[in-house]
Amino acid sequence: MNNNKIKNIFLNYFKKKKHKIFKSLSIINKNKKYSNLMFINSGINQFLEYFLNKKKPKYLKIANIQKCIRITGKNNDLNIVGYDNYHHTMFEMLGNWSLGEYSQNTAIKLAWELITKKYKISKNNIYVTIFKGDKKNKLNFDKKSYNIWKKLINKKNILFFGFKHNFWKIDNFNLCGPSSEIHIDIRNKKNKKNKNGRYLVNKNNNYVIELWNIVNIKYIIKNNKILKNKYLLSNNYIDTGMGLERLCMILQNKKSTYETDIFFPIIKKIENILCIKYGKNKKIDIVIKIISDHIRTIFFSMLDGVIPNNKKEGYIIRKLIRRSLIYSYKFLNIKKPFLFKIIPIFNNKNKNIIKLLKQEELNYFFILKKNIRIVKNFIKDKIINSNLKLIDNKLILFLYETYGLYYFIIKKIANKYNLKIVNTKLIEI
Ligand code: SER
Repeated sequence: MNNNKIKNIFLNYFKKKKHKIFKSLSIINKNKKYSNLMFINSGINQFLEYFLNKKKPKYLKIANIQKCIRITGKNNDLNIVGYDNYHHTMFEMLGNWSLGEYSQNTAIKLAWELITKKYKISKNNIYVTIFKGDKKNKLNFDKKSYNIWKKLINKKNILFFGFKHNFWKIDNFNLCGPSSEIHIDIRNKKNKKNKNGRYLVNKNNNYVIELWNIVNIKYIIKNNKILKNKYLLSNNYIDTGMGLERLCMILQNKKSTYETDIFFPIIKKIENILCIKYGKNKKIDIVIKIISDHIRTIFFSMLDGVIPNNKKEGYIIRKLIRRSLIYSYKFLNIKKPFLFKIIPIFNNKNKNIIKLLKQEELNYFFILKKNIRIVKNFIKDKIINSNLKLIDNKLILFLYETYGLYYFIIKKIANKYNLKIVNTKLIEI
């Protein structure tokens, strides 16, 4: 089942259930009135004013597919991307909302029917997690959800977790509430027999993964305090979200989101441009995954108007561009622009994005070369005038922060001048 069909099934299902279908909002968070996030980080972002009772909604049942970015703020996945098989800086979230119309009872039943009847995911592969309560914040066990789930699924497949996993917040000063999560076990029969999937839920396992989060929005969080909210408590406020890339991985029988029809064409293009092969070497695979993830985020952000520069969203996208280049420089020894060549895989008509991206890449290599020269002179000078023998943590950090030189480049310079170098964990690569 290709990703378009998967999306259509979702939208048609909720249309039939009388939900109003909304379009994906721009990926940039343009309306900072209710959240100062730079990028949209979940489908609920465009409906905040209704949840916060600032505006009367026209529709009480809503669904959409929203492009989301999670590289800043509370929900930040950047450092995991590429190192596992299913986290991304950008993903599409399939979500449905109830604005005072239905409770978690209906939300859970809708989710269950969709994944077991329409997408035909086997019940045996499904695990559900429920909020067990939190004493410190005086929050109760989510018994309501438990009572619904135990009618739908074997009790052995239900697990209970606390604040970290089953209490969702957009950021630290906004809506929040307990959640039920649906997790799917995609391991092969033998591995399932060896270890029951329930022991792998929320354990960062690559093959037992969270798919759908069903949040019962009940509270407001302010200064780390969870506050009861009459308006939310007295009504039925539901916020759900499911990652399209993960759903594709499950329904397309892949062991990684990177092998789905969303990412594989990008990977093929990278293989072609860089004359490398995916699936032969673990380190190279990480680099290819990082590039394919980042270029997708870069492209869709630029399509929505972000220009790489040193401010806000522009800075984040610049960081992703530089990160892609530095990984390919270190592990593939590529020292010239190539990201712009991947863009036609998304859409051929984006000449402006291609031009801007190429220029940004050229600028980076220009700065990098210049800074390497400056640092070499700086080091030579220190050897002569201060008898420098060692590049220590402090100096590494200084060179990184001042000249943007990564550890692996500083190490090359140290080798060239026969200097000792003490590694630091402070710098990523
Ligand atoms: N907002 C919740 C999440 O992002 C559910 O959509 O997980």
